[in-house]
Amino acid sequence: MQKKSIEFHYEEYSSKDELNSLDRALLEQALVATTNAYPQFSKFQVGAAARLSNGKIHLASNFENTSITSCAEQELLSHLHALYREFTIETIAVTFDNTNPGTKSDFPITPCGKCRQLLLEAEMSGKKPIRVIMAGQSGKVLVATGVQTMLPLAYSAEFINT
Ligand code: THU
Repeated sequence: MQKKSIEFHYEEYSSKDELNSLDRALLEQALVATTNAYPQFSKFQVGAAARLSNGKIHLASNFENTSITSCAEQELLSHLHALYREFTIETIAVTFDNTNPGTKSDFPITPCGKCRQLLLEAEMSGKKPIRVIMAGQSGKVLVATGVQTMLPLAYSAEFINT
């Protein structure tokens, strides 16, 4: 038996003001996307913005109805698949606004497990690490330099054919 470990490197910024201008602009768009969220049950408004390799920016937000709950990142990827046959995401920004009374939104959101898996597949098909900016309405901002590092020992569709 051998003990193994996997390291996870990420960047921490004291606020969005410390980000470079491209990242800050993307995060500002994700903050706008939170205002279009439809979280009728959780009241937890999530916004996501992706900058593609062609420079285009796409926005999405979470969506809750009586039969489905869909995360902002999942909605975003669905939109991209509907719009393009192939696409490469350079960077995605995810942020939130918790509108439940007495709650705070001043810390970074970190994507759920299912979204990490979905983003990983997008990263693999785009053949380029996707930078993931994670933020709240204010406070610290985290940046991961690729999705693969955020999901160690991930499931892969390649397993099916090996
Ligand atoms: N949510 C997202 O949109 N992205 C995540 O990465 C985590 C959770 C949404 C799903 C649900 O509508 C609400 O946040 C509360 O969990």
